[in-house]
Amino acid sequence: MRDWETLREACLACTACELCRSRTNVVFGTGDRNAKLMFIGEAPGEQEDLSGIPFVGAAGKLLDDLLVSVGLSRERVYIANILKCRPPHNRDPLPAEQDACLPFLREQTALLAPRMIVCVGRIAACKLIDPNFKIMRQHGEWIERKNVLMTAVLHPSALLRAQQNRPPTYLDFVEIARRAREEKIID
Ligand code: URA
Repeated sequence: MRDWETLREACLACTACELCRSRTNVVFGTGDRNAKLMFIGEAPGEQEDLSGIPFVGAAGKLLDDLLVSVGLSRERVYIANILKCRPPHNRDPLPAEQDACLPFLREQTALLAPRMIVCVGRIAACKLIDPNFKIMRQHGEWIERKNVLMTAVLHPSALLRAQQNRPPTYLDFVEIARRAREEKIID
């Protein structure tokens, strides 16, 4: 297995799909490489492409607020995306792009060995939990797979679009933090 830095360098040099042509930066992932709690989003947006850091745009600020509201922070978890490069105009990632990029996420997950994975939004939930995952109906549900607790929350961009999505998402985060503390995944 490659170490973190070797993997990161390979990811930064990746040309496995067309998105390498339009990217400004590869968005590898950020946070605590010893964390046991991992958040996985969809793909970089404009601000992430410009900075090389996941979830730093408007949706990212909201994710930060949600983490802080339940006593967490981006420094205490690990945050990555299914895609490491921005799709043009933030369109949904194509299946072929997801398949080309997924080996990086798999290696990140193997290095981190998280005990809890939170899928942020429909794309991550469909890729990692169930291809038929219905995010509006199934957010906040839990499964355990190979000793890893998995759940999904609405994408913060859905909260920016519709205020009524905020209270249920806050409750999902409360439960994530409660369960992570109960299972000693976070202090
Ligand atoms: N949306 C995502 O899914 N990931 C990011 O990094 C930013 C926005």
